[in-house]
Formats: sequence, C-alpha cells, structure tokens
Amino acid sequence: MRMSVIGCGYLGAVHAAAMASIGHDVIGIDVDEQKVAALEAGTAPFFEPQLPELLAAGIKSGRLRFSTEMADAEGCEVHFLAVGTPQIAGGHAADLRYVDAAVAGLIPYLRAGDVVAGKSTVPVGTATALVSQLADSGATLVWNPEFLREGWAVHDTLTPDRLVVGAEADGAGERAVAVIREVYAEAIAAGTPFLVTDLATAELVKGAANAFLATKISFINAMAELAEASGADVTLLADALGYDTRIGRRYLGAGIGFGGGCLPKDIRAFTARAEELGRGDAVGFLREVDTINLRRRDRAVSLVVDALGGLVFGRRIAVLGAAFKPFSDDIRDSPALDVAVRLRGLGADVIVTDPAAIENAKSAHPQLGYTQSRDEALREADAVVVVTEWDEYRRDLTPEHAGGLVRGRIIVDGRNCLDSDAWRAAGWQYHGMGRR
Ligand code: UDX
Repeated sequence: MRMSVIGCGYLGAVHAAAMASIGHDVIGIDVDEQKVAALEAGTAPFFEPQLPELLAAGIKSGRLRFSTEMADAEGCEVHFLAVGTPQIAGGHAADLRYVDAAVAGLIPYLRAGDVVAGKSTVPVGTATALVSQLADSGATLVWNPEFLREGWAVHDTLTPDRLVVGAEADGAGERAVAVIREVYAEAIAAGTPFLVTDLATAELVKGAANAFLATKISFINAMAELAEASGADVTLLADALGYDTRIGRRYLGAGIGFGGGCLPKDIRAFTARAEELGRGDAVGFLREVDTINLRRRDRAVSLVVDALGGLVFGRRIAVLGAAFKPFSDDIRDSPALDVAVRLRGLGADVIVTDPAAIENAKSAHPQLGYTQSRDEALREADAVVVVTEWDEYRRDLTPEHAGGLVRGRIIVDGRNCLDSDAWRAAGWQYHGMGRR
C-alpha cells in the first residue's frame, strides 16, 4: 500500500521504516530538513537498535523515501500522523500545535476515501475535533495509538502486543478500519489482537496504559520507601509479588524511577485533560505517582551524600549512565542525569559516562564532566552511582575490576541491577534502593 508518515521523530521514523520493511511504499515527511537529509542517507537521527538496518534496506528497495514537502503525501491511501505532542511550556497539558499543523498542511493533498490515521499520543477528544476539520476533504480519520518502547521500537512496531483502531461507527469508519487491517495484515495473521473501538476509547487506551505503567513503577518505589524504613528488601518483595499472575513481575523494578519522553509528560497531560473534563479527582493519584517518582532521585542523592560522610563537595563521583534507560540515547527527563546534576549542584566533581547518550547529555548539561570510557569515569572516584542499567555496568563490570580503579569502594545502585552480595564480598560498601 502507498502511505505517508507525517512527522519523522522517534515514532514516525521507526513506523516509516517498519512499514517499508513489510512491503509498503512509504514516504516519510518532516519539516526538519536536517532530519530528512539524514534519514534519506539512511542515518537514524537517534540511537535505536535495528533501525539503521531497516532504513538502509528500505531506501535500497526504493520503498522508503523521505521529504520535507507535504505535497509528496498526495496519492497515498493512508496518512499516519506521527508528530510530537510535548508538554506545553508553563503547564501540564499536551501541546497540540504540531498535530494541528500536520493536519492543516495535509488537507490540500487529501483525496476522498483517503485514511488519516493518528498515532501521536493526544488528549481524549482531539480526534473528534479533527474529524470536523477533515470533513471537506472526504478523508476518514481513525486513531491508531502506538505503544512502542524506546530501545525496542522496531520489535514493538513489527510485532505489537495488540493493535487498536478507533473509528466512527459509520460506513466510512468501517471502510477505514478495513484499510488499517490491510496495513497490518501480516501481524494480524500472526495472531496480534486487533481491537476496533470508538475514537475516544482509542485515544484513552494510550494515556491509560502509560498511567498504569507509571503507577506500577511508583507503587514498587513506594514499597521501596517502606522497605527502607523497616529493613525489608524491595527486590525480594517484588519477586514475591510478581509470582501472583494478577500482578506480574514486569514494571516492578524499584530504583530512581521513570523518565523519558513519554511516561512523565503523558501522565501530566492525562491529568490535565481529566481536569478539563471535570474528572480531575478520578486521576488525582497520578500526582502522587509523579511525586513518588521524583522523590526517588532525592533518595539516590542522599545515599551518595550519606555514604561520603555528609559532604560531597570536591569529591569525585562516577555516574554510570545518562540515558533514561538502556538501549537509548534519550536524555529527556532522565532520572540518571538529574541525579548527576543534583550531585554537581552540591559541589561534587561529577564524571558521567554512558555508551550512547554522552553527546546529548553534554549539550543539555555542559557543566558536568564526561567521558566515553567507563573505566576512565571510575578512575580515582570516591563513590560510584549506577543510574542506567546498561549491560556494560550491570553485567560486564566486576567489583574486582572496578575496585582496582576507584579511590573509594562505595557504590550506590540506583537501578537495583547489581549483585549486592558479590559487591560486598569484594569489599565494597553497597547501597541499593530499598534493599537491605
Ligand atoms: C513507555 C511505554 O512503555 C510505551 O508503551 C509507550 O509507548 C511510551 O512510553 P519508554 O518511554 O520507551 O516507553 O520506556 P519504558 O521502557 O516504559 O520505561 C520508562 C521508564 O520507566 C524508564 O526510565 C525506565 O527506566 C523506568 N522503569 C521501567 C522503571 O523504573 N522500573 C521498571 O520496572 C520499568
């Protein structure tokens, strides 16, 4: 099928490349000339496993092209909206200016019968407002939220847990759903559940899913606080809870909490929209979820300060990790970098390392020290903080090797990803998050 993808950021670039890889003819459109030039040359503008290979293969096959011209969307049967919906400046709501601009720019090139499929995360009610904007074009709007995780974006796009399509309950809506079914025919044939809903439900699913995940993480982090106060171990607690299949072990990883370009902004936008709808009370708990999350960063900082005897001024601290999670170079709302910035604010001599995110971190926080080399970061450190659970730190770094480099054997495991017994046995003072 011929399709356009409007917006070639994280979501759009991956979606475009993934759609080309399953045989569709795709044009990715973005206003950013540099981004388009990079993508046309087969270069991913961000770190994402498998994406470079997919881009190269798509471009080589001739099925994947990129452009800055909206006119190139003309003639496509499906137009995916994949632009960003960041948090507005000075508030919690989502900024819909890019969605509005994409739709306004696309309208002149739509033909009757085209399907416009929204993928961006938007406040419930956005799609219904867009339906009337599209009315004269004869195109049909559906909402097809995306649940991809960074670091797993290609995998999640090609083999999603489920596909959700919201449409209006009329003939045009039914035809549009049939078109979307054809787009994802391969995944559906492989057994991926395909759920057809109304527009509002499809929009709400995405916000609700992120709200649930954020709540699950903050729940276990709240338990970590109780564990700290009572001498219990949150990792063992999570294991024990996780065996209950109604609860499940995933997303019960206690530590310095969630960050990234989605969960934090999405739960805030979700709350803001609920308030607009007069139902702020229904999601009042999400404010607590946010607060618990931010409190864990304070906890990691105070563990370092306490371990160094109450004063970090002038002490050298190796911060292992900058990305908000492994397999990503994304530092948006990264708890890892926040911990580094706070330690630096207390006067520590902070040296940050990360396998992928150093360049992004450097431009956002030039006041921190950086090195690409993990061992260089560890050299002469008075304390070490693990804040992103990359394999390089979690799996490959042994306490013996690290012990030969540092000045002080103090380690704060902000992700509860290390074998505490092994580190203690090697003479380290080990501090986990909610662990004995
Ligand atoms: C998330 C959702 O998972 C995805 O479905 C949605 O489309 C976008 O937002 P992503 O931002 O890529 O995806 O990250 P995710 O893997 O969910 O992790 C989010 C944050 O939570 C990370 O900072 C991670 O370190 C943290 N996290 C995750 C925990 O602190 N504990 C956990 O147990 C799991």
